Amino acid sequence: MTETVRLVEVGPRDGLQNEPDPVPTAVKLELIRRLADAGLRCIEATAFVSPKWVPQMADQAEVMAGLPARPDVAFPVLAPNMKGYEAAVAAGAKEVAIFGAASESFSQRNINCSIAESMTRFAPVMAAAARDGVRVRGYVSCVVACPYEGAVAPAQAAAVAAELHAMGCYEVSLGDTIGAGTPASVLALLEATAARVPVAALAGHYHDTYGMAVANVAASYGFGLRVFDSSVAGLGGCPYAKGATGNVATEDLVYLLHGLGAATGVDEDALADTGAWISTQLGRANGSRAGRARLAK
Ligand code: HMG
Ligand code: MG
Repeated sequence: MTETVRLVEVGPRDGLQNEPDPVPTAVKLELIRRLADAGLRCIEATAFVSPKWVPQMADQAEVMAGLPARPDVAFPVLAPNMKGYEAAVAAGAKEVAIFGAASESFSQRNINCSIAESMTRFAPVMAAAARDGVRVRGYVSCVVACPYEGAVAPAQAAAVAAELHAMGCYEVSLGDTIGAGTPASVLALLEATAARVPVAALAGHYHDTYGMAVANVAASYGFGLRVFDSSVAGLGGCPYAKGATGNVATEDLVYLLHGLGAATGVDEDALADTGAWISTQLGRANGSRAGRARLAK
């Protein structure tokens, strides 16, 4: 039986949030359109966060207003608090993501509050979303390591993931924010987390700073995960994790998964073209090995 893997394309949000120069809204929308045309069915479109904290996401409402009319594609957005949630829903969001962290220092730097305070901020978002019929995904950052505190205990990451799941998040995405994980540390994380959250409700969100993201996906797939986040052309980095690079490139992820016999619904040629196109738009080298190889043929 062919396994199906759900991909969450985070390029337009995680991939672009750290770009130093403003990316025109029209380029963001063209990227989203191309990703949908390539077969991605879940595309994180933008973030309803403070423009003082993340200026690149200041055009959230314009992005939402210009999304392609694709009922077959989900366009979740980040919403860290009620202000973000209300603005997201007013802009038409049907799915949001709340984001916490497994380390106190990262929580403070990223969302300006402690882990416990973040849960207090998320509670009314969960209640409003339940009332409005809005789906909520949860993220846990720094599941393996924190840029300020170093190694993070698997039990600590598992506890935060369990809290988000218990609050009602339909899925919890495990963020190796600084890409420090290896298959060994990721499997230790998954073992601790799967004891508290069903594997079917977990996603892998691996940044590629140390070049381990594909290996970490392969190990997680072997463990049973069937949802992965990725960024076309490997775009990205986190504004609050200095030196961290982008997510695993979607092209590399798809090449790996198709090689493992899994179905993703993604057209590798259209995806490679999209990765090359956005890299040119941003004046960046294409961060996908598989994408570059495909285009060189
Ligand atoms: P705060 O300063 O603590 O918020 O920010 P506050 O409630 O004290 O309000 C202060 C001001 O911010 C007020 O404005 C609010 O109206 C405004 P003022 O009265 O001073 O003019 N404000 C907002 N404005 C727009 N949208 C909002 C919002 N909330 C308050 N939602 C806040 C708290 C969370 C807003 C802030 O810290 C923030 O925006 N942080 C940005 C975090 C972020 O986007 N990080 C990157 C994404 S997370 C990530 O990349 C990790 C992930 O990929 C997984 C992984 O890899 O690990 C998901
Ligand atoms: Mg990330």
